[in-house]
Amino acid sequence: MSFKQAAARAGANIALVKYWGKRDQRLNLPAAGSISITLAGLETRTTVTPDPTLGADEFVLDGVEQPPGRVGAVLDLVRERAGATVACRVESRNNFPTGAGLASSASGFAALVVAAAQAFGLQLSESELSGLARRGSGSAARSIFGGFAEMDPGHRENGVDAVARPLLSAEEWPLEVVVAITDSGSKAVGSRDGMNHTMRTSPYYPAWVETVAEDLDAARSAIAARDFEALAETAEHSALKMHASMLAARPGLVYWNPATLACLHAVRALRSAGTGVFFTIDAGPQLKAVCLPGESERVAGLLADQPGVSDVLVTGLGGGAARAAVP
Ligand code: ADP
Ligand code: DP6
Ligand code: CO
Repeated sequence: MSFKQAAARAGANIALVKYWGKRDQRLNLPAAGSISITLAGLETRTTVTPDPTLGADEFVLDGVEQPPGRVGAVLDLVRERAGATVACRVESRNNFPTGAGLASSASGFAALVVAAAQAFGLQLSESELSGLARRGSGSAARSIFGGFAEMDPGHRENGVDAVARPLLSAEEWPLEVVVAITDSGSKAVGSRDGMNHTMRTSPYYPAWVETVAEDLDAARSAIAARDFEALAETAEHSALKMHASMLAARPGLVYWNPATLACLHAVRALRSAGTGVFFTIDAGPQLKAVCLPGESERVAGLLADQPGVSDVLVTGLGGGAARAAVP
């Protein structure tokens, strides 16, 4: 068996119909499906180096040594498939803030599984890579694909059918995305802890889970028809409904700051005035504005002017996770 150093890149993705809650902790199976867009400009690059001289896995993120944690657990799954035991050094870089609600766990684990599969000589389908990425982070299953992707919660107990699939490529509906950064620090409560706390304590959680399927149907139809207004309405509803479930947890989970809310109102005002734009917000204080082609410059200008916005990133939809040259 031969192992070799390998590298990959993957884009972060933002959900238009959110994933928030699990049906199985160990296999990291989502309680419901989700639909996302993969971004071109927010990306992770990861190199995996199998090294028989190492006693244990090593993980370096943005130049800082980290406990291998979930990275080591995903490497174990890849090694198990390859019938290998060799430890690895994993070096990864995110070109955007980590753990800040910009989906670093999504691009991070998608890049990791593509690089690790290659390092261990495994020929895996995109669906298999998606399932492996899910074990690291649920949202990562979607970043295997570019453009629009849908995560299936799966029905099997072993979770083999809990994988994402592509809906449309980036080129088929080239929406633009503006990310308003209101706080680049990492969040106090990570997505995993936040969703588990919501599941355990929020009386709105059952209503949240029960209503995801109708949002998925509406979003899927809107995407197929390129119906921006219908997608806008569904995506804003899904985001606000997810945050409502968190606010009703005990104690309530509040990821927003005043700038997040200022951006939300600014986007609503723009849309009322006829601009093709809607907002979404994940587990963090950043606001993402999804725009019709050609609208991002105007939206970026408006969001940059909101008090408390420290940076504005303008990007579009990108491709799926892919092998990259070893740096
Ligand atoms: P985010 O909103 O950024 O996805 P999460 O709370 O979901 O925040 O996940 C943050 C965790 O994701 C980090 O603590 C780290 O363990 C993991 N992570 C972030 N970037 C990477 C990466 N490039 N490779 C592997 N794991 C990563
Ligand atoms: C609010 O995928 O980061 O961004 O599976 O526990 O790693 P784990 O959680 P994660 O949660 C993402 C939550 C979200 C919504 C979404 O991306 O669908
Ligand atoms: Co995450």
